[in-house]
Amino acid sequence: MRDGFTRSGDDLPGEPVSPWLATTPDAGYPALEETLGVDVAVVGAGIAGLSAALHLRERGKTVAVLERDRVAAGVTGKTTAKLTSQHGLCYDHLRREFGLREARWYAAVNEASIDEVERRIDELGIDCGFERQPSYLYGDSPDEIERETDAARAAGLEPSLVRSVPPFERASSAVRFDDQAWFHPRKYLLAVAEELYEDEGARVYEHTRVTDVSGGTPCRVQTEAGGVQAEHVVLATGFPILDRAGYFTRMYPKRSYVLGVRLEGEPPEGMYYRPGDPYRSVRTHRDENGTLLLVGGENHKTGQGGSTKERYRRLARWARERFPVASIDYRWSTQDYRTADRVPFVGRAGPGAENVSVATGFRGWGMTNGIAAGRLLAERIAGDDPPELELFDPLRFTPKTSFSRTVTENADAASQFATDWLRTLLGPDLESVDPGEGRVFREGPHPIAAARDDDGDLHTVSAVCTHTYCLVDWNDAECTWDCPCHGSRFDPDGTLLEGPATEDLPRREPR
Ligand code: FES
Repeated sequence: MRDGFTRSGDDLPGEPVSPWLATTPDAGYPALEETLGVDVAVVGAGIAGLSAALHLRERGKTVAVLERDRVAAGVTGKTTAKLTSQHGLCYDHLRREFGLREARWYAAVNEASIDEVERRIDELGIDCGFERQPSYLYGDSPDEIERETDAARAAGLEPSLVRSVPPFERASSAVRFDDQAWFHPRKYLLAVAEELYEDEGARVYEHTRVTDVSGGTPCRVQTEAGGVQAEHVVLATGFPILDRAGYFTRMYPKRSYVLGVRLEGEPPEGMYYRPGDPYRSVRTHRDENGTLLLVGGENHKTGQGGSTKERYRRLARWARERFPVASIDYRWSTQDYRTADRVPFVGRAGPGAENVSVATGFRGWGMTNGIAAGRLLAERIAGDDPPELELFDPLRFTPKTSFSRTVTENADAASQFATDWLRTLLGPDLESVDPGEGRVFREGPHPIAAARDDDGDLHTVSAVCTHTYCLVDWNDAECTWDCPCHGSRFDPDGTLLEGPATEDLPRREPR
């Protein structure tokens, strides 16, 4: 929750934080305040960035990891932390759109990620609640589930078709993957970061905002108080800071919501996922107070879809209708990017950036995909050129069905642009903005975003997103300004929280 707006979520259940962040300390790594030279600069200390750094060190490369916030506090700190190769209805799609070889690659790299986490936990002695569990993908269309089961089998996995699951919802069929896993992602990644920090060939910096990346020889990474010269740069952030390939027109952001629910009684065995809009995700997490059930869903395009508080309420109702809920202890939300063809972008960043790599577009499945991206990029940088990168190539040819999705998403962004600018003509007066509320109004030709904090003070900034000039919208659960076009987010004082924008919203004083 934003400073000054902490009371605006009082009417929602649960502490506004993930259990991963609530139960782990700050690592306390320094900010970068000098210019240094390494083989590889890794931007982003989430699961993809830290995995890349580990693999690069194993190949003898010196590494500097630069994190704008804290280690594993971004998307990785807000995941449901399922380690699985079961990513919704994906294998039938991959087989049809890309081919059987590519579906097999996808299955293999994600299965390898589960094994990699287990191996590192053993090697480093990490206590992070890793448990092998079955994962169920369920739905109301037996045909769809059967096709997915068949495609997963053809991709080299060992799925089984089961009936009458899950126990908490009527569903006609499900596909079960055995030997999947869950864990506490931040406990795992804090141990990985510590391993890197104690290694003379690696540096880890927190609170270090990258302001520019140039992809020459060497590459240059500019930060607010220093910089890095490197032979190669890995951009492992939600949205790549160097957009050489028009990523903002080829990915779209979605927000989703999770509740940490304490049950009276035992949770269901394993983990569950129901695809669709809205999807549902269920898994168990054991902590020192017993068992939490993590219930996720209510996804929507960022900056669109009305009250975000209402999404938490709907999720809470759904949980209470199906489980003996004793209390809701946590609530949190996250944002992830989806590519039009549903396959992440992992590889060369774009034209003129041969030595810059990206890892993004994980579609909510960043745990295994992020680890796979780290491994594949380290191999690419070491000159091994793994064949699987052909599937993930950010500059790949987009299948026909995905091309139409790209067109639709860009049309949606364009229509948001037009309707939101018209909407501000009907602007409210400032006095009508209540504490915890934000509204956009027009003062002369200037759209102004006004939000009132718990103490009644008004915060006013330009409502024009600094990316490509759409108008931001108020997110009432998180108290942020979210852009409906490509997902940039800002705090009530205009500070940039996530891109593709790279600049804050300027302050505006109302007359
Ligand atoms: Fe593109 Fe706002 S994120 S216009």
